[in-house]
Amino acid sequence: MEDIKVLIDEEKLLNRIKILGEQITKDYKKSKELIVVCILKGSLYFTADLTKHIKNNNLKIDFMKVSSYGDEFISSGKVKIIKDLDTDIKNKDVLIIEDIIDTGNTLYYLKNELNTRNPKSLKICTLLDKKSRRQKDITPDYIGFEIEDKFVIGYGLDYKDLCRNIPYVGYIE
Ligand code: IMP
Ligand code: MG
Repeated sequence: MEDIKVLIDEEKLLNRIKILGEQITKDYKKSKELIVVCILKGSLYFTADLTKHIKNNNLKIDFMKVSSYGDEFISSGKVKIIKDLDTDIKNKDVLIIEDIIDTGNTLYYLKNELNTRNPKSLKICTLLDKKSRRQKDITPDYIGFEIEDKFVIGYGLDYKDLCRNIPYVGYIE
């Protein structure tokens, strides 16, 4: 993969994530059970770095993997659960950690699905928000960065499952 341009460098990412973590710490101070749901694979680094800044002794991390049928650039709206949670989220505070919200199709599905399991609360935290491309009415509760309509890679985000290990968020021109 040649000529990757930096959109958000590592320092900027980590500074913003620390602030998000502090905000989430405040908001969930009274939570007795907080389940942080890492959406695989894209959110792996974001979840890892963010949860280090969420000071809460009742926090558990769980994983979910969903796939949207479609090509590698655009999701189609049809979503399938590939790996479900291990945890029963009934009456628990649930925070979904997503790498990027684009059309909103994935999270629209996921939010409805998790809501049927009757959590105490359900919120969404996304590192990146491509707001201009939204097709579904999905508003994240926490946003790292709003970005323009560019296909981004790195810091967990992939192109054909590659480039996830780049430590910054970049794009190819
Ligand atoms: P949505 O369902 O259209 O909101 O898309 C969400 C999913 O599409 C994300 O979780 C990513 O896996 C993928 N995606 C959307 N935009 C990008 C991008 O710019 N780079 C890499 N993956 C993306
Ligand atoms: Mg992806």
